[in-house]
Amino acid sequence: MNMILITGAAGKTGKAVIRALVERGQVIKALAFRSEHARELEGLGAISVLVGDMRDAAILEKAVQGVRSVYHICPNVHPDEITIGQKIIAAASAAGISHFVYHSVLHPQTEAMPHHWKKLRVEERLFESGLPYTILQPAPYMQNILANWRDIVDTGSYSIPYAVESRISMVDLDDVALAAAIALTEEHPESHQPLHRNAIYELVGTQAMTQAEVAAILSEQLGRPVIAEVLPVEAWERKARASGFGDDQVNTLVKMFSYYENYGLSGNSQVLGWLLKRPATSLEAFAKRVAEVMLPSAP
Ligand SMILES: NC(=O)c1ccc[n+]([C@@H]2O[C@H](COP(=O)([O-])OP(=O)(O)OC[C@H]3O[C@@H](n4cnc5c(N)ncnc54)[C@H](OP(=O)(O)O)[C@@H]3O)[C@@H](O)[C@H]2O)c1
Repeated sequence: MNMILITGAAGKTGKAVIRALVERGQVIKALAFRSEHARELEGLGAISVLVGDMRDAAILEKAVQGVRSVYHICPNVHPDEITIGQKIIAAASAAGISHFVYHSVLHPQTEAMPHHWKKLRVEERLFESGLPYTILQPAPYMQNILANWRDIVDTGSYSIPYAVESRISMVDLDDVALAAAIALTEEHPESHQPLHRNAIYELVGTQAMTQAEVAAILSEQLGRPVIAEVLPVEAWERKARASGFGDDQVNTLVKMFSYYENYGLSGNSQVLGWLLKRPATSLEAFAKRVAEVMLPSAP
């Protein structure tokens, strides 16, 4: 059957990718962690929702049954990303999947950020598997800003746990989802093989901007003052632990903040523009779009 499996389906990435694929008329099987997400995923258009733990090889073997392609999204900063990757690649190989698309990250080569480095190890496993693959490497999402939208709008404070001068590229998750749908569906006109097989694409929307520049763009689009401010890492950690983050996640993200502060994270939007056949969405356009629907404050 011409079905596409999406793992990590109920997360923000999974839902965006499902929307983009359903708009293209694709048939989706979704793997979700909790049964309470099943109805939402069906509402988005998933034809079948499997509930289970992706650390469990038996669930992954079941998930790949009857599907043509796999779009693998590991949960964010998951300590078991490498073994999960190994298991799903093994299951996809055994099932004879014709295309495996892996949702990686910009600069997986960065050893100082353990969650990036783990994704590089999964990419390596994919090369070794012999499966036709596409690897997508997105920059940090513009949508991450929405986690603090209320503070930004209500107090004018855009707070980040690293220096205001840190220069970081970003990308609109909707552009990433469209790129994923393109990678999954475009075929070679004669062979009908996946057009983007055995390719690695960096998905970047903006040049690296300081956080002060990000705040200035938010301010301009919101029509009210917004200032970038450093949230001390200790305060960030308290909030993160209160929301359920464990030691591994906290330590990994603290390393990421330190890396951002020392080196930034800089990419180039040419590849994304080429894939989408239009320029990548700018932060100005993203902020304008969000402000139109989410002013005066986000939920
Ligand atoms: N955020 C960014 O800026 C960014 C940029 C580039 C790449 N990425 C990558 O994008 C990926 C997805 O990020 P995201 O923020 O969309 O992820 P997410 O919100 O963490 O979503 C992942 C989904 O997986 C589910 N899940 C958790 N543990 C699971 C398990 N053991 N078995 C099955 N499902 C499980 C979660 O369910 P529950 O919610 O019920 O726990 C959630 O629905 C990550 O690998 C991240 O590194 C993110």
